[in-house]
Amino acid sequence: MEFRHLGRSGLKISEISYGNWLTHGSQVEEDAAKLCVQAALDEGITTFDTADVYAGTKAEEVLGRALKGVRRESLEIFTKVYWPTGPGRNDSGLSRKHITESIHGSLRRLQTDYVDLYQAHRFDHETPLEETLKTFDDLVRQGKVLYVGVSEWTADQIAQALKIADEMGFDRIVSNQPQYSMLWRVIESEIVPLCEREGVGQIVWSPIAQGVLTGKYLPGRQPPEGSRATDASGSGMIARFMKDDVLSRVQELKPIADDLGLSMAQLAVAWVLQNPNVSSAIIGASRPEQVRDNVKAAGVKLDSDVLKRIDDVLGSIVERDPARTSSPNPRP
Ligand SMILES: NC(=O)c1ccc[n+]([C@@H]2O[C@H](COP(=O)([O-])OP(=O)(O)OC[C@H]3O[C@@H](n4cnc5c(N)ncnc54)[C@H](OP(=O)(O)O)[C@@H]3O)[C@@H](O)[C@H]2O)c1
Repeated sequence: MEFRHLGRSGLKISEISYGNWLTHGSQVEEDAAKLCVQAALDEGITTFDTADVYAGTKAEEVLGRALKGVRRESLEIFTKVYWPTGPGRNDSGLSRKHITESIHGSLRRLQTDYVDLYQAHRFDHETPLEETLKTFDDLVRQGKVLYVGVSEWTADQIAQALKIADEMGFDRIVSNQPQYSMLWRVIESEIVPLCEREGVGQIVWSPIAQGVLTGKYLPGRQPPEGSRATDASGSGMIARFMKDDVLSRVQELKPIADDLGLSMAQLAVAWVLQNPNVSSAIIGASRPEQVRDNVKAAGVKLDSDVLKRIDDVLGSIVERDPARTSSPNPRP
């Protein structure tokens, strides 16, 4: 495993991290979830990403149990707040009340005294940004949270937050967690240049486009049994890639991976890690073998000829529109 700094902070994290959205507490049984976490630890992953909302809060519980007994100082545990965790009107968003209640629930479920990174899972158009940032800053002072970050915020929203933090003397955002893969490059034109200047690192999600970039989904064919595209909770988000033109182009990446002696999943994870603004690529897995396969992307260098071959194959199916980064307004 290779390690990178989380943005401009002093914290080192594994350049491949493990996330448990859609798997722990839902698609995957607890035993399999624990095996995936064990495989991640065996492969040198030290950074784990979850959220209060995953599997209706059960994902944090599973991760807490799976990491029990591991030396806390050897781990970086990331979680998030924003999406609804209950039926009440204050059970979502980034108000002082919800953030405070949510962190207490997350710490209890994760069985830890602090999280290394606490992330605003989306931008809350209904709460003054000062209120959110002051609350995050208070959690840092209380030692419940070591660093703060955001997820899927636009460049303007990140810039506003940094300006307020500088003016008010609050702890600065050190990271953003966006979707990023060969197929989804919407952060490249606005967010990455700003974040490079400001020392904010990207912790990128779905680097293999939820499984699509493994090449296992074939155009014109039913998805393989048990894959995310067949899962009741998972098939919604992956649908954007389950189109024959996308799946056909993805098949053409196979010779490029073969020439490099990489699996297609390794090529996809290595691709996001070529971007120096990426602090870590968060991989998901329903089986421990997937962790063991994908983690071999750590430290792989892709030269410019390879990057060009990938671009030539994918052509116009790559999504680059920065307007695709958005948060619900009003909040859910
Ligand atoms: N901030 C946000 O809004 C946000 C949103 C989404 C995700 N995330 C974070 O990012 C993490 C990763 O997202 P993701 O799970 O979509 O990432 P991903 O790594 O792109 O996709 C993982 C899925 O692909 C399939 N897969 C992985 N390796 C494979 C292999 N070698 N061969 C065949 N299939 C393979 C597995 O699904 P099947 O076996 O079921 O097909 C696995 O669960 C999440 O856990 C979460 O922590 C954050």
